[in-house]
Amino acid sequence: MNNKPVKIVETALRDGHQSLSATRMRTKDMIPVLEQIDNVGYHAVEAWGGATFDSCLRFLDEDPWERLRTIKKHLKKTPVQMLLRGQNILGYSHYADDVVEEFAKRSVANGVDIIRVFDALNDVRNLECAMKAAKAAGAHVQGAFVYTISPYHKDENFLKVAEDLISLGADSICIKDMAGLLAPYAAFNLVTTLKSKLSVPVEIHTHYTSGMASMTYLKAIEAGVDIIDTALSPFSGTTSQPPTESMVAALIGHERDTGIDLDAFGPLADYFNEVKKNLAKDFNLNTNISIDPKVLSFQIPGGMLSNLVNQMKELGTEDKYAELLKEMPKVRAELGYPPLVTPTSQIVGSMAALNVTLGRYKMIPTQVKDLVRGKYGRTPAPIDPEILKLVIGNEAQIDHRPADDIAPQIESLKQKLAEEGFPNASIEDLLSYAVFPDVALAYFKKHR
Ligand code: CO
Repeated sequence: MNNKPVKIVETALRDGHQSLSATRMRTKDMIPVLEQIDNVGYHAVEAWGGATFDSCLRFLDEDPWERLRTIKKHLKKTPVQMLLRGQNILGYSHYADDVVEEFAKRSVANGVDIIRVFDALNDVRNLECAMKAAKAAGAHVQGAFVYTISPYHKDENFLKVAEDLISLGADSICIKDMAGLLAPYAAFNLVTTLKSKLSVPVEIHTHYTSGMASMTYLKAIEAGVDIIDTALSPFSGTTSQPPTESMVAALIGHERDTGIDLDAFGPLADYFNEVKKNLAKDFNLNTNISIDPKVLSFQIPGGMLSNLVNQMKELGTEDKYAELLKEMPKVRAELGYPPLVTPTSQIVGSMAALNVTLGRYKMIPTQVKDLVRGKYGRTPAPIDPEILKLVIGNEAQIDHRPADDIAPQIESLKQKLAEEGFPNASIEDLLSYAVFPDVALAYFKKHR
């Protein structure tokens, strides 16, 4: 049985504000407290990747690479952690291996110590390239699998994904529960299974969306989980992680006490309360986010529900909302039970919305066709044969690694950037341009 202190990864600088403040926290909001954060005694600080890269360029007029270097400069003792979507890097489609390799390499060179990689379909072939490059660059590589509920997702299936990740070189494993679906006793069983078979550390990442997150962590801790992801209180709760202070307090005096001094958090919480208020004011953010246990019935992440409602309002079909809630799980089953996380959540969601407005599979978006073709990787279950025929006719599905079909991109990106007037772009700028061409170019035109 694990009787070591529970380790804490602080997420306020990435997932916390991504979940609660539309990813709008600016580097200048972080700098004043980075040294205090560095002194807390965290296992790591998650501070980069996910949606922050896009947000820096698109909304904050910041260079994401510059942010990373600044954070690294101030976090002298605590490892910097990032979230990477495997072959999707930080974007929404697959990139060529040369771009993925270079991105992983430059992330490490600019300050990332721990790279958490995941794939929306848990197809580990989509993680091979990023993992190999990150390891070669000297990073700790954490393999994450996304947690979801379906007849095809049993503890043994998750264990198999974890074992495959370890055989690809994962230094630790993360259970990534992006929608807050993981119930406390299910977490106990899953962690028990993983801990009994794996020799690397196991971390758990959940969201408060359904209201179960702290209970889930406590049962995971009882089952021996090594590391938990939490956010300082102002950026915790609802659609974010459990509060760091409360989890630390809950373990005081227990054999797995984190050993972190609770008093370290007071000034940090006060500071981030102000930051959160300022972000809401400066960016006119909706701060009225609440816990939504409906996610447990429909398995639709909270943010996505509100997006779908908005979409249907635009189409003038909000009266079909109840129908949509039934259609989502049906489409998900027909499309092979993909976990609902970027980008599969959008793919399933838009297909379901079109089905209830125009008739089932009357209009099929390219992304749905590509998912059925196998261009995102292997779905957890086979595509329903009738739907397969409806979507791609007699076209064959691919069964190889999708990125094998993508030719190297770096040279052509260099050429394009030169044509746009940036012949001497740095490799970091080239990578920004590879993933978010339009916003990167707008940034370069202003700043380079
Ligand atoms: Co998350």
